[in-house]
Amino acid sequence: MQVRVVPRPLGSGEIYEMLKTVIAVLALTVAATAVMAQSDPIAERKALMKAQSGATREASAILKGEAPFDLAKVQGVYDTYLVTTSKFAGLFPATTKSGDTKAGPKIWDDNDGFKAAIAKFETDAKAAKASTKDAESFKVAFSQVTKNCQSCHETYRNK
Ligand code: HEC
Repeated sequence: MQVRVVPRPLGSGEIYEMLKTVIAVLALTVAATAVMAQSDPIAERKALMKAQSGATREASAILKGEAPFDLAKVQGVYDTYLVTTSKFAGLFPATTKSGDTKAGPKIWDDNDGFKAAIAKFETDAKAAKASTKDAESFKVAFSQVTKNCQSCHETYRNK
């Protein structure tokens, strides 16, 4: 006896079940990605710093006269700093003292000082944003706000 498997069209109920599975798998993938992003504070804080460094380079080129003054661009640089200051303090859980990181022990040993350094950076970035109107005021404000990079690194980042 021969058994013939005849392909038959899927019923709408079956299609619905399949779609449900596909959607469930997609939702899981999205959730897993979100958790991964959240559970890697070292990568996140380094990415913020890298973005800052790129922005700082743009503004430095203006400062050195290698690029024309551009108010919108400069304000964007300050905004990049302010994104960091809004997130940075929350990216140093005790579990991330070691690993692929240059975060210094003082971040945890003197956490108030670290938070104060972030707050100062934020205050200076806001002040710079408010006072920068033209190439001249930019020079003063930008030089002031970027002092924070070195001073924080000296105390809170390993060499
Ligand atoms: C309040 C402290 C603080 C300030 C202000 C600060 N940084 Fe950082 N920065 C850090 C710490 C801490 C690290 C080390 C992060 C790690 O390795 O986990 C770091 C790391 C970096 C890195 C290396 C990132 C990497 O991929 O490893 C760069 C580049 C950097 N900072 C640039 C800057 C620039 C430019 C400024 C100023 C516009 C600045 N930082 C201001 C604390 C600060």
